[in-house]
Amino acid sequence: MPTRFVARPSTSEPGAPDPRLATGETLRWGVVSTGHIAHVVTAQLRALEDAELHAVSSRDAERADAFAREHGASVAYHDDASGSGVEQLAADGAVDVVYLATPHGQHHALARTLLEAGKHVLIEKAFAVTAAEAADLAALARARGRFLMEAVWTRFLPVYQAFVDHVVEGAIGTPRWAQADLGMRATFDPDSRLWARDAGGGALLDLAVYPLTWTTVAFGLPSAIAARGVLAENGVDALSTLDVGYPGGGRAQVTVSFTSAHTRSATIGGDAGVVRTLGSLPNPTGFTLTRGDDTREVRAATPAPGYTYQLREVTRCIQRGELESATMPLRDTLAFMRCFDDARAQLGVRYPNDEAPPPSR
Ligand SMILES: NC(=O)c1ccc[n+]([C@@H]2O[C@H](COP(=O)([O-])OP(=O)(O)OC[C@H]3O[C@@H](n4cnc5c(N)ncnc54)[C@H](OP(=O)(O)O)[C@@H]3O)[C@@H](O)[C@H]2O)c1
Repeated sequence: MPTRFVARPSTSEPGAPDPRLATGETLRWGVVSTGHIAHVVTAQLRALEDAELHAVSSRDAERADAFAREHGASVAYHDDASGSGVEQLAADGAVDVVYLATPHGQHHALARTLLEAGKHVLIEKAFAVTAAEAADLAALARARGRFLMEAVWTRFLPVYQAFVDHVVEGAIGTPRWAQADLGMRATFDPDSRLWARDAGGGALLDLAVYPLTWTTVAFGLPSAIAARGVLAENGVDALSTLDVGYPGGGRAQVTVSFTSAHTRSATIGGDAGVVRTLGSLPNPTGFTLTRGDDTREVRAATPAPGYTYQLREVTRCIQRGELESATMPLRDTLAFMRCFDDARAQLGVRYPNDEAPPPSR
C-alpha cells in the first residue's frame, strides 16, 4: 500500500483530455526514482510558485517514504502486490506531470506507462536507449495529447541563450568547425548505472547530448556521423570520438569518456572569430569571444538554481497547452538518438533494448 502523507482528490481520468491545460494553475508533479538527480531536481522544484510535489515512486517502500518526507510529497508509491510503484503513480489522477529519472535503460518502458495513463512527462537524458524507443514515445505523446521533453537543462540556462544570441548575430562570422568534449574518470563497475548494459551504460548515451547541444548552435542537426571508440569489458563504450557532419558543410569533433580528464568545453570557429565556453559544459559560467588578437569574456549569471529553468519551461508549456518545448523539441531528441544508433553500430555497442524493440505503430 502507498504511504499517504496528505490525502489528495483525484481530478482527471487517465487518458482523457487534460482539463487543466492552459489555465495557468499549479501543476502537481510526480517523481519516478529516488536516486541522485531525482533528489537534486526535486529540491529545486520548490523554487517554482506553480509547482507542487504530489507523489514519488520507488521500487522500495523505505526509499519512497524517505524521499517523500524529505521533499514534502503527499504520497509515496512503491512496488508491492498491487503493482509497481510507477503503475500506481500513473493511476493517481492527482498527478499532472511526471519527472522520470531512472537509468536510461528503463526510460522507454516507464514513460510508456506514464503517457498511456495520460501524464505529461519530462524524461532525463538519455531520453531512451534506441531511436526506435524515442520515436515510439514521441508518437505516443502526440497521440495522447501530452507534453513530452528530454531534460536537457543546459538549453534553458541564461548562458546558453547568450551564447546562441552571439553566434546567431554573427560574433564569429559564419561557423565552420566545432570541437566539444565532456567526461570524467569513472572506475569500471558493471553494476553501476554508468556502465551497466541494462541501464544503457556507456559514455555516449550518458554524455554526448551535451557537446552535441552546443555544436547544434553553430550548425543545426547532424547529417552524418563517424564514430570510433574504446569499449569496456562488458561491451559498452568507455570512450567515444564522433566526427560529425552537418548539412551546410560544418564539421564537429566530439569526445566523451569515462576514462579521462576533459576540458568539458565547446569551441566553435567561424570565418571571423572563435567562441569557447568557460566552466563545465552542462552548466558554463560564460564564454570567450576571440576576433584576431582581441579576446573578451562574456559572463552570464544564473540567478536561480540551474534546473529550475527547464522546470519553468515544462510548466509554461503545459499551462499553455503546448505539447513540446520549442527550445528542446522532440525533433532534436530524435535526431540525436538516430546519431547514437548510428555511432553504436559503428562502435559495436548493443543493449538488451536493441533485442526488444517497441512494436511498430
Ligand atoms: N540532468 C543531469 O544533470 C543529470 C545528472 C545525473 C544523471 N542524469 C540522468 O538521470 C538518470 C538517473 O541518473 P542518477 O545519477 O540519478 O542515477 P541513480 O542515482 O543510480 O538513481 C537512479 C534511480 O532510478 C531508480 N530505478 C528504477 N528502476 C531502476 C533500475 N532498473 N535500475 C536502477 N535504478 C532504477 C532507482 O530508484 P529506486 O530504487 O527508488 O526505484 C535509482 O535510485 C539517468 O538517465 C542519467 O543520465 C541527469
